[in-house]
Amino acid sequence: MEMTKKAACRPFFILHPSAFILPKHMSDLIWLNGNVSTMAETRLGVEDRGFQFADGVYEVIRLYDGRPFTLTEHLDRLQKSAGGIEMELPMPATELAQHIGRFIPRTGVRDGMIYLQLTRGSAPRNHLFPENTSATLLFYARPLPAVLKAGSADGVKLMTVTDERWRRCYIKSIALLPNVLAKNKAAKHGFDEAVFIENGIVSECSASNLFAVINGRVVTHPVGPKVLPGITRAVLLDLASSVKVKVDERPLGIDEARQADELFITSTTRELSWVSTWNDLPVGDGVCGPITLRLHQAYQRRVSRDIKVAAA
Ligand code: PDD
Repeated sequence: MEMTKKAACRPFFILHPSAFILPKHMSDLIWLNGNVSTMAETRLGVEDRGFQFADGVYEVIRLYDGRPFTLTEHLDRLQKSAGGIEMELPMPATELAQHIGRFIPRTGVRDGMIYLQLTRGSAPRNHLFPENTSATLLFYARPLPAVLKAGSADGVKLMTVTDERWRRCYIKSIALLPNVLAKNKAAKHGFDEAVFIENGIVSECSASNLFAVINGRVVTHPVGPKVLPGITRAVLLDLASSVKVKVDERPLGIDEARQADELFITSTTRELSWVSTWNDLPVGDGVCGPITLRLHQAYQRRVSRDIKVAAA
């Protein structure tokens, strides 16, 4: 009789234990192979090939007001990067976009980024690709300060570093040690970003693409063995003509780059940043140059337009 009474008081549903673990910040959630859990709960195998061989690729996608910017372009590059290391996406890009779209509101992140990583998965350590191992796909959101109005941030300070990277920089590989070492070398000497130079040619920076304004035209190194096809770069090239800016994609020599009227760098997280000094020498007039400003304003208009469309 007693038992029956107790049974009658039982709720109709049973909550999974994870429902009681409230993340400190909702942005502590992580999507891993289709399951969402907190960072603290999430476990990845020691033999994951991303961990042991840097056998994987990644993406960083900007969130504005809780909406991903150029998500399709990022997933397209992810697919190409995966192809570059003889992998396939574990699901169609459109399906992955839906997972990301459903995940973002759960994180509560409005201004921030999605970090997404794909590795060849976990298998007993062996240089040879494993057979029948499923990939590890994960993503999570992180808040970032809102981007400042074009032209209002301080300029960045560049430092030259010898390019010691491999010749497949078009792949957004998680093997970032040369980039990490370059950036740290620059930071140690009080600079913001490292510029890679090889045989007198300036390719890109440790985590951004580089542009020079020379005689009223914008010059940037073509993408390929030494330059990542940056999404910010691609958006800029697309909108340059609409603000009457001519762009040349060609190798950029160190001497002409050092004498450029304006220099700027681009990346998903920073948009455009004007360069104030290079190896401590001033660049241009020591302010954000007019062409850099015009391009950044056009970029921010594109962001607002796309985010409005996504919200509608
Ligand atoms: N890095 N070149 C390199 C070497 C980069 O690492 C990045 C971006 C870029 C710019 O690409 P995009 O415009 O698609 O962000 C160019 C990201 C932001 C990072 O590793 O955090």
